[in-house]
This record gives sequence, C-alpha cells and structure tokens, in this order.
Amino acid sequence: MPESQHATASSTAANPASPTETVVVSGIQPSGTLHLGNYFGAIRQHIALHRRHEAYFFIVNYHALTSLQDADALARYTLDVATTYLALGFDPDEAHLFIQSDVPEVTELAWIFYNLTPVSHLEKGVSYKDKVAQGLSPNAGLLNYPVLQAADILIYGGTLVPVGADQKQHIEMTRDTAGRFNHTYCPDDDPLFPLPEPHILDDVSVIPGVDGRKMSKSYGNTIGLFDEGKMLKKKVMGIVTDSTPLDAPKDPEQDNVFALIKLFASEEKQAEIAAAYRAGGYGYGHAKKELLGMIDAYFAEARERRHKLEERPDYVRDVLREGAKAARAQAEPMMDRVRAATGLISARR
Ligand code: TRP
Repeated sequence: MPESQHATASSTAANPASPTETVVVSGIQPSGTLHLGNYFGAIRQHIALHRRHEAYFFIVNYHALTSLQDADALARYTLDVATTYLALGFDPDEAHLFIQSDVPEVTELAWIFYNLTPVSHLEKGVSYKDKVAQGLSPNAGLLNYPVLQAADILIYGGTLVPVGADQKQHIEMTRDTAGRFNHTYCPDDDPLFPLPEPHILDDVSVIPGVDGRKMSKSYGNTIGLFDEGKMLKKKVMGIVTDSTPLDAPKDPEQDNVFALIKLFASEEKQAEIAAAYRAGGYGYGHAKKELLGMIDAYFAEARERRHKLEERPDYVRDVLREGAKAARAQAEPMMDRVRAATGLISARR
C-alpha cells in the first residue's frame, strides 16, 4: 500500500497549552460503504499519519445520527469503517481506533460548550445552511453538530486535525470554542485547551464518480473500495466518456477515466497513457481496462486482509474496545479538569 506524500504534519507552535506535542485527531462518518473518494480524500492520509504521532481516530456514530436513523445500518456501517481501516493497514498498536459513543464524555463536554456558543454562529454552519436552503427543517443535532465535533477534538487535547477542505469551518469553530472556554474559565497563563490546526487534505472534488460528477454516496456514482470481480468491472466499464471515435486524438485532461487513472498510476505511466490519448488510436475502452487492472491491483492486498477480518469480527471489536479504553484514559481526566474549572461539583466523590 503506497503511503501518501501529502500527509506531512505541520508544526503546531501556535498552541498555548501544548507547545511541542502533536496530537492527531479525526472523525470518520459511518454513513455508508466507503468508496474511492473517501479513500483518496481522507483515509489514505489517516493511514499515513497514524504511525507518526499520538493519534485518535474515531467513528462518529453520534454525528451520523443527525442524518441516519436506521439502527441496523448505523451498526453495520460502524463496524464496516473499522474493518476497512484495519484492512488498509491501520495498526492498532500505533494509534487508537474507536467508536465515538464509547467515550460518552464527549456529549457531556459538548453540553458545556453549548453554553459558550452563540446560536447565531451555529446558524452560519455550512451543512445547516445547506439544509435550510433546500427548504428542509434541520434537527437540533445538525445545528449543534460543530459543537460535538469541537468536543471530539478538544477532549483528547487534539492539536492537528486531518480533514477535507469542507471541514475548515468546523475547525475554526473548534478553535473559537477552545478560546472561549480558556478565556472564560482558565487563567491566562494556563489555558486548558490547545487551539487545534486543520491539516487540509487533498481536494476530493476532482475525483469523479462513474457519471462524471463528484464521487459521492448521495449521487449513487461511487466505486467501492472493496468492489471486485464483475461488479467492479461493470462500474469501471460504465464510466461516462465523450463520444470521440477510437482513432481520433483525445484530451486526457477532459476525461473521467484518466482522472481516476491519475490516482493510481506512477508519473511515467500517466505520461505514457496521456501520450496514447493524444496520439489517437487509443480508445476509452483501453483506458478503462487499464484502470480496472490498476484498481484491482492497488487494493488486492487490502481486499485479502478484509476477507480475513470478516471472519474475525471479535478481533475488530477487541481493537475498538482497546481503542476506547485508551481514549477514555485521556477523556476522563480531561473532564475532571473541565468540571473543576466550570464549577460542576460532585457529591459522589
Ligand atoms: N465532520 C467530520 C466529517 O464530516 C467528521 C468529524 C466528526 C470529525 N468529529 C470530528 C473530523 C473531529 C475531525 C475531527 O468529515
């Protein structure tokens, strides 16, 4: 599995509470079967980063509830994300992988943050605004989604958040939240939360689905990470192309198949195929066969591992349980400090 060259962590010198240590945190939505867009947009970089720093990766099932209210599907997707990460080379000895709701303290922290968050800021949230613009009535979970995300990040003292460009606003809101908490409850020289930096990943909007639009579950145009055999072939051969005849020269940069080939092929191979496009006599069918072979080879090892993992669901659960244990070992003392700072006393202890 080639590791990404793009995932170099930036320095986090701007963090008041933790000037030197990088803590990577990121959440993954369990909202459907993962596809090439998810892989090249985020998962690949998560895998590349997870060995380099202390890192927390969690499957955000609480967040998924804002749009997915099918219990069986949520449970299935949650385990599917975990299996996928492990199959792709996530090593649970190197970083923590767990289910968000196994650390219920995040919802408590989110509650505390709600009281520091102006509703007017939440109403500017992009996904909230989108829903409203579509004439839909968003639920309160969606309005408050960015606050829970802030809690997710800050409860582990996260300093670096590898996410897609669409998440920039959420990280800004997280920084605001950390700042407001520190300002309200902490002495100036002893802030509790570091201000996390986004680590913006490659733009995935350029990854086309089989119909040429951005690859997205909601368009039903995805190629699944573990599609194989006939299913994979059918999808690849069905990628939309223009009707330039086989003999004619073609512009690779205008073609969906070539856009996908670029994700897999070495520079030399890309140049070779681009030259064949421009020379003419090389049809889209050729390009698709080439792409099919590339996808098949690229994920062959992961597919194999996935088949093995599917026979060991207990192992996947063990990994998630251990991950949650480690995450809670961070979250619990953090919440003790938060409760102490905010005056939430307990008569139980
Ligand atoms: N909102 C993120 C997404 O849709 C998922 C997410 C939830 C997340 N909590 C997070 C990402 C914390 C980074 C850090 O992709």
